[in-house]
Amino acid sequence: MLCLSLNGETIKDNLNMYFENIDLLDSVELRVDFLKHVDLEEIAEFLEKCRHPVILTCRREKDGGRYSNGEKSRLALLKKLLKLGFDYVDLEEDVKKGEIDTVAKDMSTRIIRSVHIFDEFPADLFARIQKTAANGEIPKFAIMLHSIKELHTIFNVKHELRSIKEKIILGMGSFGVPSRILYKLTGSFLTYCSPRGSEIAEGQLPLNTMKNLYSADEVDERTIIYGIIGNPVMHSASPEIHNPALKELKLNAVYVPFQVKNIRDFFIFAEKLGIRGFSVTVPHKQAVLPYLGKISREVKLIGSCNTVVKEKQLWKGINTDYYGFLKPIYNLLESNRIKKGLIIGAGGAARSVAWALRNHGCSIIIANRTVEKAKYLAAETGAKWASIDEIKKFTSIDLIVQTTNVGMYPEIDNDPIENYSFTGNEILYDLIYTPAKTKLMLRAEKAGAELISGKEMLISQGIYQFEAFTGHDFPYPGDTVIF
Ligand code: ATR
Repeated sequence: MLCLSLNGETIKDNLNMYFENIDLLDSVELRVDFLKHVDLEEIAEFLEKCRHPVILTCRREKDGGRYSNGEKSRLALLKKLLKLGFDYVDLEEDVKKGEIDTVAKDMSTRIIRSVHIFDEFPADLFARIQKTAANGEIPKFAIMLHSIKELHTIFNVKHELRSIKEKIILGMGSFGVPSRILYKLTGSFLTYCSPRGSEIAEGQLPLNTMKNLYSADEVDERTIIYGIIGNPVMHSASPEIHNPALKELKLNAVYVPFQVKNIRDFFIFAEKLGIRGFSVTVPHKQAVLPYLGKISREVKLIGSCNTVVKEKQLWKGINTDYYGFLKPIYNLLESNRIKKGLIIGAGGAARSVAWALRNHGCSIIIANRTVEKAKYLAAETGAKWASIDEIKKFTSIDLIVQTTNVGMYPEIDNDPIENYSFTGNEILYDLIYTPAKTKLMLRAEKAGAELISGKEMLISQGIYQFEAFTGHDFPYPGDTVIF
């Protein structure tokens, strides 16, 4: 079940939210702790109008909620509300058995016994789940995760405790996001989703995203899992490139973001979950190399891998940044419109760019804040090098490729080459895609230069990746990808 947490301050707001999302949800959680005033009549009316199962929740501040009027009055309130007839009530593990359980029983309301853990991962997780379930209650454990290893343990619950049919085990925070999307693979029968525009718990995704982007409720044992690893990774636009395409081809597959600090732990987890392929982003493009059984020619050359696919039991690394970068300029290189290129930056992205240009007959200059790094990459690729301050001395530049993160959201007022004056004959290719036009691009456009945005490379590398993952052609033209 996709369960929408209703966090309106009035019942009217909650009803509006409910009806707006009625086609997407399977159940709702009424968060009484968010209500400004609790009016029993209004809530009774809400229950009458609601055609889906409703969970009653009144969360205390210490568990991440908003209720602050003391425990005695909270329990008295819950008791009164229970008499209105809810399908489920969320009661915390430390709420002692008593009258409230009797009322729930009389009203045939199932108890979800919830535990919220924000500090250390519980060593006795499985035992605690079993103990709660043995009481005939539904165990709910929401645990703040700090690593992929902890996420792995969450996914072990399904297999280890398969006899417990009704349970909710989810990871909070960025590390926990896959457990919310792939909730059925953790053995959970329900996942909580937030209304559009508000995140109620850390890592909780909007209902619209869970249903329309990830089709979380359609994931089953046979679903093929792809993903992206990075740190941070939740800002990535890649799920919005891959998931709609998987859906278009009617493949039972999903593409999920995995926050990863430790690469080794991720490879162990990927084997366990049967992940078939994943994109790799900053800072792991070099770190994955020792774990690959096979690498492509480009990965060997560049020393960086942005795509890993399972091929005949082996992890194979390829680099679609290389081809994705070339795609928008390929014809311009072939026709000799681009003969001389200036690369700003000498980091991981610049390496793919330098090799791609060099291998297509373009002479290059690499300019970087840290000159030593420019020198090093230039020596490898047979390029010239310079400091950022020196680039004004170079003339007749056909292509400038901006590979640093200077000018990227939120620091959009920065320009990495303030001292460079555009002649208007250049093509500026800025690898940044947020904002769509950087300060540098606006300056180049004003001078009459041609622009290529980072979004084009992002989509092109994603399309090559999709084809490597699935073996299918990307189902629609790249310029129709929306994110
Ligand atoms: P990526 O994989 O995105 O290329 P990276 O390998 O960390 O990331 O490289 C970042 C690049 O942006 C480097 O060239 C870096 O310059 P330094 O080598 O001098 O660190 C450049 N960069 C980052 N912040 C910068 C800044 N504020 N001014 C100029 N260059 C910057």
